[in-house]
Amino acid sequence: MDAGRGQWSSKIGFIFAAAGSAIGLGNIWRFPYVVGENGGAAFVLMYIAFVVIIGLPYMFAELALGRASKKNPVGAIEAIKPKSLWKWVGTLGVLTGVGILSFYGVIAGWTFGYIFKTAAGNIGEFSQFVSDPLIVLVLFAFFMVLTTLIVYGGVEGGIERWSKILMPILLILLVGLIIYANTLEGASRGLSFYLQPDFSKITGKTMLAALGQAFFSLSLGMGLMITYGSYVSKDDDIVNSAFYIGLFDTLIAFMAGLIIFPALFAMHQSPSAGPSLVFVVFPKLFTQMPGGLLVGTFFFILLTVAALTSTISLLEVPVAYLVDEKKYKRKKIVWIVSAFTFIVGIPSALSQGASSFFSDFGWLPERLTSVDFLSHMSFIFGDFSLAFGALLLSIFIGWIWGAPQAANELQRGSAFFTKTKAIWIFMIRYFIPAVIFLILLNLFGIFD
Ligand code: PHE
Repeated sequence: MDAGRGQWSSKIGFIFAAAGSAIGLGNIWRFPYVVGENGGAAFVLMYIAFVVIIGLPYMFAELALGRASKKNPVGAIEAIKPKSLWKWVGTLGVLTGVGILSFYGVIAGWTFGYIFKTAAGNIGEFSQFVSDPLIVLVLFAFFMVLTTLIVYGGVEGGIERWSKILMPILLILLVGLIIYANTLEGASRGLSFYLQPDFSKITGKTMLAALGQAFFSLSLGMGLMITYGSYVSKDDDIVNSAFYIGLFDTLIAFMAGLIIFPALFAMHQSPSAGPSLVFVVFPKLFTQMPGGLLVGTFFFILLTVAALTSTISLLEVPVAYLVDEKKYKRKKIVWIVSAFTFIVGIPSALSQGASSFFSDFGWLPERLTSVDFLSHMSFIFGDFSLAFGALLLSIFIGWIWGAPQAANELQRGSAFFTKTKAIWIFMIRYFIPAVIFLILLNLFGIFD
């Protein structure tokens, strides 16, 4: 192992850290509003299909490359194909990490702020809260500092330990909320919106949204799983780990929907409210349920922690790259990267009402994203870049490194994989790149 490179203390430690990266605002904040915007159940089905047939097999590939090379995304590619243009694919991943963190940190800041608002019993109007420039910037800055302090210390201790304790608690709280939300009057209409598919709602845009959401939620397409895979011990079964990561991640997102949609329809709100959806619906739920403020405070604490295990992972990718490749000192470079990310994130922070320029940005056509700057960032980095990155990385792994090499790495310790190896090789070489390519093409409205 390279001097100073960390390693997870155990297989379970890795699963929790990677699941911690995967489970976050993507599941509880982004998934429900994307489902709401894209018409409900048909989208959910498509999402689950993408997780199973694209997300999981693709996750194997990133993990294999990471563990085989023990490097960050750029280093891993350089190790296999030195001095080629392919290294830009790694660089794209590193930049995507910064791009996602720049808006993700903003939402994480809101989540953190909501702990105090709920605890104080004074939840107030969401739109008013996010349009206060001082509050959103301070919360965003605070969250970046918190993330930086943890990444500063390296991968093992902090990230692993906290994820192990807090993730199970989140799961239990969600179960409780599902039960409560579904006892509300009118809840069943929400359930049918969420679970009874209407396939006429599927369009080219919906497909990219589902694919992008699958990559986003599973932390794929930017080399995060290459980076986290590089800290996995050679004896672990990564195929089996990836399976659990995908399962937990999908389960949590699905559960969030089982709370949000019944509650939403019971309260006669619109499912297509966009990014503000959970910040409006959850507080309403907490205000009306018995003991709700306590439950709500707890909920936002856990959501903050879930967000933190994801922001840590987002910061870790550029940091690992700069430490491995450019030989910067971890303790210095973490602060520089996070300060840079904060600056990039300022327009997103101000785009929910604080600045009319960024709130009504409208640079991309409305069929792709909403007008505010944050939604633009979420589309560009959170959907497009991840899908594009995954397209290039699957080609790199399938053809340049070679699917058989990758398969050998995956076979270590996995009897299951040995049996399905031929199918996987076909998937990573042909199926996955072809599907992503077609969906990206569709963005330009070609099949619409
Ligand atoms: N998967 C995280 C979430 O759902 C976000 C994320 C994306 C983290 C990409 C790392 C890399 O909240």
